[in-house]
Amino acid sequence: MSLLRGWRATLASVLVGLCIAPLAVAAPPARVAAHPPGGAIASGHALATEAGLQILRAGGNAFDAAVAVSSTLSVVEPISSGLGGGGFFLLHDAKSGKDVFLDARETSPAAATPQAFLDGHGALDPNRSQNGPWSAGIPGLPAALVELAGKYGRLPLGTTLAPAIRIAREGFPVYARLQKGYASRRSVMERYPGTRAVYLADGDPPKVGETFRQPDLARTLQLLADKGFDGFYRGDIADKLRRSVHDEGGNWTSAELAGYRVRERAPLQFKYRDWSITTAPPPSSGGIALAEILQIAEGWDLRKLDPPHRVHILVEAMRRAFRDRTIYLGDPDFVRMPIARLMSPDYAAGLRASINPDKATPSVLLPAQPAPLEDDETTHFSIIDRDGNRVSATQTVNLLYGSGLVAPGTGVLLNDEMDDFALKPGTPNAFGVMGFAANAPKPGKRMLSSMSPTFMESRDKVIALGAPGGSRIITEVLLGILGYDDGLSAQQVAALPRFHHQWWPDVISAEAGALDPKTVKALQAMGHTVNAGEPTWGNLQTVEWDRRSDTLSVGSDPRNPVGKAEVLLQP
Ligand code: DON
Repeated sequence: MSLLRGWRATLASVLVGLCIAPLAVAAPPARVAAHPPGGAIASGHALATEAGLQILRAGGNAFDAAVAVSSTLSVVEPISSGLGGGGFFLLHDAKSGKDVFLDARETSPAAATPQAFLDGHGALDPNRSQNGPWSAGIPGLPAALVELAGKYGRLPLGTTLAPAIRIAREGFPVYARLQKGYASRRSVMERYPGTRAVYLADGDPPKVGETFRQPDLARTLQLLADKGFDGFYRGDIADKLRRSVHDEGGNWTSAELAGYRVRERAPLQFKYRDWSITTAPPPSSGGIALAEILQIAEGWDLRKLDPPHRVHILVEAMRRAFRDRTIYLGDPDFVRMPIARLMSPDYAAGLRASINPDKATPSVLLPAQPAPLEDDETTHFSIIDRDGNRVSATQTVNLLYGSGLVAPGTGVLLNDEMDDFALKPGTPNAFGVMGFAANAPKPGKRMLSSMSPTFMESRDKVIALGAPGGSRIITEVLLGILGYDDGLSAQQVAALPRFHHQWWPDVISAEAGALDPKTVKALQAMGHTVNAGEPTWGNLQTVEWDRRSDTLSVGSDPRNPVGKAEVLLQP
């Protein structure tokens, strides 16, 4: 842990202890630029990046651009996120210096009790937790767009939603991931008449190069632009969503839709070496896990370790952080969590002491005793504007094409986020992570997430980064932070090969090329099980402002050929 000095150190640790991020970041030294030379956006689809740039050119700020990027991603990446899903938006307001976390996570309908997800033998039924009406939580994304525009933006929703509305109406070219994802979810999606009406409009599934139009979604977005929150959560669209869930055997109430609220939360903040990291609080597990992993790893000089030992130390830190995720974390509105303890450098020191520097700790030796508490898809974008406002946002419908269920007449594809709850204690979900009481479903509760939109700041640099990838989001962002700390460029950070460990299963997953054969051998000799050569994962999008050279740079994950990151120099 780098040394924190003086009163700021004391204040920072007290605030972290209270789980409240310091709201003002110290002003940069005079020799660095006061604001960036323009704006920059990185997102998973070129049309979304272009929509955001168009809004910046029209005089919008980063928050207006975020509405345009987010809504356009909802149209062009239905495989990843959408109005029927949720997300987290980490914001930095340059004028006040404040960081805010908009939690637009889905909430659990009251009818969705744990029993609703079990089959006749009492086992978790993935067909209910991952497909169709029971898998869907009450959507949060439309409320986030309204909040962003009303509270933080300068332009009306009619302007910032215009690009998404136009693209939904006129269509966009189908790309490979959309077609491939559809093929893998087809049998579920084609169960539902509303989904067939959108995806089989011309008689067969979307094919690369075809134009994919969503006129109902254009109308839904227009209602959101015209009427704000009520355009989605009350009246015609809300009725259609509710009816469609009922027609397929599920149960949402009007009050659950009308009662949905975005929560504004204080982000988590901690120090890693010379960086101040600002990141996602619960109901994301990401911020706490990142703090644990980085603070454990800080006991070693990672740059001086040979490759197997660097991976070993990071994996042991990941293992311990994911064990804690399983036991403790959930929706802060429902569970008490020992956040101050989990984030504390002393706790990290204790975990560090339990690591044998040359030998794997089998996960079974770190058991998940339920604590005594009272009870390839998703998408990310990063934006910075000329004033220094910043957005780091991750949004999702959970698995490919969410629940597969489009509510007829709305164009809205519902999420399957309920699978992120611990529906059956100790039973892994689609990402292989499990949980206990802290993450059990309750009416109105938000399911635990791994989405980790993050800011990094040093004396000279300001960075926004994040990624999709289920439980692997946390380690993608971790490797991104370490990459920046090693001096890599934004594009190199986005391209970095990835490895991951999540305590259970007790395996290191690695992309092809991430670990060389010698490193794999050495890790195996330390007692690790290594799955080298897994298919690639993730889609990291990042922007960086170097205040000393006053330059902007961007990184868009090369694993996703339709992503786009661009700098817009503005006079
Ligand atoms: O909130 C979460 O952690 C997950 N629902 C995110 C899903 C995701 O990233 C899927 N991507 N591969």
